[in-house]
Amino acid sequence: MISRIKVLSVVGARPNFMKVAPIHRAMLEAADLFEHHIVHTGQHYDQRMSDAFFADLDMPHPSWFLGVGSGSHAQQTARVMTGFEEVCQQAQPDYVIVVGDVNSTIACALVSVKMGIRTGHVEAGLRSNDRAMPEEINRLATDAIVDDLFVTEQSGYDNLVREGVAPSRIHFVGNTMIDSLHVALPRSRQSPILATLGVQPQSYLLVTLHRPSNVDDRQQLTALMETMAHLSSEVPVVFPVHPRTRQHLSHWDIACPDGVIMIDPVGYIDFVALVQGARCVVTDSGGIQEETTALGIPCVTARTSTERPSTVELGTNVLVHPEQHAILHAVATILHGGAKRGTVPPLWDGHAAERIVGVLRSHYS
Ligand code: UD1
Ligand code: UDP
Repeated sequence: MISRIKVLSVVGARPNFMKVAPIHRAMLEAADLFEHHIVHTGQHYDQRMSDAFFADLDMPHPSWFLGVGSGSHAQQTARVMTGFEEVCQQAQPDYVIVVGDVNSTIACALVSVKMGIRTGHVEAGLRSNDRAMPEEINRLATDAIVDDLFVTEQSGYDNLVREGVAPSRIHFVGNTMIDSLHVALPRSRQSPILATLGVQPQSYLLVTLHRPSNVDDRQQLTALMETMAHLSSEVPVVFPVHPRTRQHLSHWDIACPDGVIMIDPVGYIDFVALVQGARCVVTDSGGIQEETTALGIPCVTARTSTERPSTVELGTNVLVHPEQHAILHAVATILHGGAKRGTVPPLWDGHAAERIVGVLRSHYS
């Protein structure tokens, strides 16, 4: 029997799980040609930042778990590299898939490319043009070395061509995170999370914050919490708190304002239910800008830049400077009926992972 093509997909941090789950499903459909395995670096490890997603996304347990945990950028990246090199030596994969822009992404791309393993980057080409963001460095470095660049939106294609990548290596396949969203929606509609929190559909704001520029600076985090206090005097605010943010709120003893329902991070099915029920989402997340656009939910992104311009140009996202006046103004506009009506970007149709597997099939057939 001819041996199948062995593909390893890497997950490490929360947003990676949603991007890989559909690839795993599409690989199972193509099991005549591919043998697919998931490698979890352990960059995120709390039950609510990691394990919860395997059940919610119907993903099998990883074949390898590196258990790298937290640390400085160098420590974390180095530990992922050492662990992943051993996995590749042992598993001898034919192809490695990395997704997104986290430290696990660049660490595994560096290892596999240097070992001569063909490597693809899912969500290539996104650029905030802000090199103070660790993710921007990870994106630039990953895209500079991988073989296949799978892009989610037109800006990704345009950026890569501008950087000199041969168009034949760029594959505009759509967005696997939105594939996961399509699968999750029926279950999310059954989620009890709104009732558990005591909020009504269309009556609350959903807030997430975790960018270092917003939460690693005491003054900035204090100002954002004051902004939430203002918002919550108008409408309930649901705030699932990322561990980075929780750590800083506690370290600086910044209190939770009345009216803000502060909760631990929630699983994916519950989170999608919270997004769907929200009057408006205020966030600095990358993926949540895309999910709100796909669902037509108004989104205020409290950042100075976005690497996902299609959510602003086509979708429901507005980018606002992360300071009180701008955020309050943007939210008030939405609450008073002035929300943008968006459209869904091309190929965000639930079939991106199938296209990725189609590209791989064309390499090996
Ligand atoms: C990482 C990614 C970021 C992504 C985010 C998604 C990098 C450089 N950053 O940021 O791009 O948007 O994940 O959520 O890769 N911690 C826990 N439990 C966990 C994980 C983290 O308590 O399960 C705490 C630790 O104190 C850790 C801190 O959160 O030091 C930050 O974690 P880290 O993975 O370094 O970065 P994130 O801010 O999560
Ligand atoms: N998410 C979740 N529970 C939460 C917050 C977010 O399941 O409490 C999901 C969200 O639906 C999206 C992903 O996590 O799919 C986004 O991850 P995050 O904001 O941590 O990272 P980013 O996209 O900014 O890199």
